[in-house]
Amino acid sequence: MPADPTPTTLADFEAAYREALPEGTLAYYSGAAADELTLGRNERAWQEITLRPRVMIDVSDRNPSVTVLGRELSSPIAVAPTAYHRLAHPGGEEEMARGAEEADCVYTLSSLATSRPANVAASGVEGPRWFQVYVFRDRAVTRELIAEAVEGGFEALLLTVDLPVLGRRDREISTGFVVGDAESVPGVNAAGGEGLISMQDTADLIDPSLTWDDVAEFAEASDLPVLVKGVLRGDDAALAIEAGAAGVVVSNHGGRQLDTVPATAEVLAEVVEAVSGDGEVLVDGGIRRGTDVAKALILGASTVLVGRPALWGLAAGGADGVAAVLEILKDEFDRSLALLGVPNARDLAGRSDLLA
Ligand SMILES: Cc1cc2nc3c(=O)[nH]c(=O)nc-3n(C[C@H](O)[C@H](O)[C@H](O)COP(=O)(O)O)c2cc1C
Repeated sequence: MPADPTPTTLADFEAAYREALPEGTLAYYSGAAADELTLGRNERAWQEITLRPRVMIDVSDRNPSVTVLGRELSSPIAVAPTAYHRLAHPGGEEEMARGAEEADCVYTLSSLATSRPANVAASGVEGPRWFQVYVFRDRAVTRELIAEAVEGGFEALLLTVDLPVLGRRDREISTGFVVGDAESVPGVNAAGGEGLISMQDTADLIDPSLTWDDVAEFAEASDLPVLVKGVLRGDDAALAIEAGAAGVVVSNHGGRQLDTVPATAEVLAEVVEAVSGDGEVLVDGGIRRGTDVAKALILGASTVLVGRPALWGLAAGGADGVAAVLEILKDEFDRSLALLGVPNARDLAGRSDLLA
């Protein structure tokens, strides 16, 4: 076995990331709420779906592209919003965005980023980008961040609604992890964060009084489509669409909020049925293989987002590491199309015959 084998799977990048970062940061990135049951369930639920491929279909010409919010994407794999990239790599959010661009995938910038939307926009990265919105108690700060995202060419807003308070993340608390100086997190600093801040201090700045009326306000605040992120039920998804959202992201925040909620793979079909074509349904949580991506599309998702794996790539190898993680997933997804006998990613939706 060579001393430094080429990373072949996402798990190889996770191993390299574990070597690269200190204990507290690892607990923050890898950890989840309470007993972390939903964290494990997210991955297992995709694994436990059995595929039933067709054979003897001409798959010599394959097309993994999809259309999301009216824009053609070369693959149904996007980078989920995750906070504080400078904890993983000195190049921070710009480095992550560059990696996504190298792999031709959408990059989503978090409201809790160590760069402002304007910095990412000015970094020369031209790939498609979305902006994730936390509604701070100081709504003027949120509106300013949105205005900056609009100005900076971000193409959609992901309004995260599953964090009225922070899930209790025991693994992280036990390490005494602090994010760092509030000054290094422009959104948090503008929203009133000062000095050395923990995740709890940050979460305390977020408005717990958010309701569907606010979604309507944010949907009307700019021309950008709003995707409501953090929905786990069909009835909530229908309310999101009614409130003016262009779609929803089925997400349990990577198991980091309310523990023992279902895996996203388990509720995706219910949400797709409730939205019934009136909006987009995206999904994240536990996507680690190209087959997971294929299963999500069969169940009706228009694209998936990956959170932790992109952080593994960033910590292990900067932009090139991010790109490598995304390229592995893309390659696995392309092979899945061929091996399922469905050469066009757009034809996966609704093919329940492909699932046991
Ligand atoms: C370290 C970390 C930070 C995150 N920060 C945010 C955030 O700032 N905003 C947000 O909407 N979601 C955030 N999330 C949730 C992700 O967007 C996504 O829902 C989740 O990571 C998907 O699960 P996965 O990590 O298994 O792919 C974060 C997740 C992680 C792991």
